[in-house]
Amino acid sequence: MPLVQRLKYQKEPNMIITVASFKGGVSKTTTAVHLAAYLQERSPTFLIDGDPNRSATGWARRGELPFKVVDERQAARYARDYPHCVIDTEARLDTEDLKALADGCDLLVIPTTPDALALDALMLTVKVLETLSASQYRVLLSIIPPRPSRDGDEARTTLESGLPLLNSSVRRLVAFQKAALAGVPVYSVNDPRAHFGWEDYLQVGREILR
Ligand SMILES: Nc1ncnc2c1ncn2[C@@H]1O[C@H](COP(=O)(O)OP(=O)(O)O)[C@@H](O)[C@H]1O
Ligand SMILES: [Mg+2]
Repeated sequence: MPLVQRLKYQKEPNMIITVASFKGGVSKTTTAVHLAAYLQERSPTFLIDGDPNRSATGWARRGELPFKVVDERQAARYARDYPHCVIDTEARLDTEDLKALADGCDLLVIPTTPDALALDALMLTVKVLETLSASQYRVLLSIIPPRPSRDGDEARTTLESGLPLLNSSVRRLVAFQKAALAGVPVYSVNDPRAHFGWEDYLQVGREILR
């Protein structure tokens, strides 16, 4: 990267965001990809695919993402030039992982779906999460079903009392599955509701960087 460009980007604080959860299928990879797309609009960003299943790598390979996706072995080199970094991780965190992950980033984002199973899994880990300071992590409600379901509101009420929950949340939209299949961010998907998906992650991104 040319020096002038690098100096310009240095004005904005670097941000390392790790997306993690205690359960699979809660939209970690989808969240990592879209937060990286959001950050990339501000400054060059790369995504570290820390999941041995390499879902984010596959996403990038199937199509085109507006940022670089690398694995842990290449991460150090990109960290030198790219101000922002998003790290996608595998599910099944244990206590020690959580602390190590939190130490290695500026913010841990923990997505959860609003269903009973996912909420139980999260509540069981509240004790572990309480060992972190509230500034180290945020919980994100994701894959929220449309009305008349009240799952999103109920989950919010349940979580809000004990956990640092993001005000913004992400709706359940088929456009996200289409995006993963096509290897693009949701805003590039040809679907009448795709823009809602991008709006949701824009809100999440703004709230995180605030
Ligand atoms: N907001 C959403 N609406 C609908 N489907 C979603 C949404 N977010 C993720 N998905 C889908 O849910 C599944 C799990 O998401 P993924 O991001 O792979 O989760 P994880 O990385 O936690 O396993 C995928 O099929 C993905 O396309
Ligand atoms: Mg994943």
